[in-house]
Amino acid sequence: MMFSHLTKLPADPILGLSALFKADSNPEKVDLGVGVYKTADGRTPILGAVQQAFARLSKEEGSKVYIAPSGWPGFTDACAKLVFGEDLVSDLGDRLGAIQTPGGCGALRLAFELIAFSKPDTTIWVSTPTWANHVPTLAAAGLSHKPYAYYDQKTATVDVDGMLASLEGAKPGDVVLLHACCHNPTGADLLLADWKRVAELLRARELVPFLDMAYQGFAAGLEEDAEAVRMIFASQPEALLSYSCSKNFGLYRERTGVLFAKGEQAAARDAFVTNLAQLARANYSMPPAHGAALATTVLEDSDLRADWIMELSSMRDRVNGLRRGLADAFAREGFGDRFSGVARQTGMFSLLSLSPEQVAMVQKDKSIYFPANGRINVAGLTDENIPYVARSIASVL
Ligand code: LMR
Repeated sequence: MMFSHLTKLPADPILGLSALFKADSNPEKVDLGVGVYKTADGRTPILGAVQQAFARLSKEEGSKVYIAPSGWPGFTDACAKLVFGEDLVSDLGDRLGAIQTPGGCGALRLAFELIAFSKPDTTIWVSTPTWANHVPTLAAAGLSHKPYAYYDQKTATVDVDGMLASLEGAKPGDVVLLHACCHNPTGADLLLADWKRVAELLRARELVPFLDMAYQGFAAGLEEDAEAVRMIFASQPEALLSYSCSKNFGLYRERTGVLFAKGEQAAARDAFVTNLAQLARANYSMPPAHGAALATTVLEDSDLRADWIMELSSMRDRVNGLRRGLADAFAREGFGDRFSGVARQTGMFSLLSLSPEQVAMVQKDKSIYFPANGRINVAGLTDENIPYVARSIASVL
């Protein structure tokens, strides 16, 4: 038989938590699992600017006929300007290709497919730790990976020297998967000065950077958060970037993403777009339109764009406030500085130094849900549940 040897698999380490949380009847339960933004009353709202774009689109769309393989008209151009800024987009010209993808994961997978198609023996260097879906996605494209050091648990910052030392072992042509702002599960980001050191090493060793960016606007602001990726794209002959609109537009279920690729030759764009379109065609054919249509409407209308930027800042401010609240609550539990790094990090994630057994105990006994590696989604906290979370985690340490 074809399928009789297949057995039931364990749930996804991150996405599987949502179902467990839903099924838990404990009124004190707390969901710090999947990286989605939440309001003080635990909702993940549709942003106001997106709702207005939806109202406009439902009047104007008029047809559900296929869109082009490269995506919704104007979407990748609008995202390119958001990520790289108008000046760099114009400098890169025809060396920059872009294709709309089903979310950031779709962009990752498509990029790995392109790498495997172009140079199948490429090694992908991934940080320790990295996002839980990175290795499965590259492995599914038939690629192999090696780890590079990333996190210094003691200082709760990036171990830049360790990172550079590991990458000294990469061979020319290898791809380095890098986390743009707020993306690493630790919550620790490289500083701009660190990025410059990384850029020098990439160039010297002829490595190809592949940036994963899903949180533009969650660290310091749209422009500030793009500085590092702009510097990398300006300084390296070849580069890739997977972009997600899930978090900053709140378009999670609409699977709205972009893959950007920079090449060395003058007309790299056409080669990228046609090859990527062919790889996509053999897989999911073309990307879904709705989320990209919404994001484009927001980005191209100055009023909607201004509303969106305000909403994004308020999400960022709320998460930063929760970070400070949690660090203070841990200090009150007698941990001194042990968790003070939580307040200094950015974005939704922090990695608590808990063993998988301790994480399981907090889940079983206290109904607090987060992945076994200790990554918490800070946005799942509220002023009300912070003391309970700090107390519960303290009880297993
Ligand atoms: C997360 O990391 O929690 C999110 O990006 C959801 C996912 O796809 O894992």
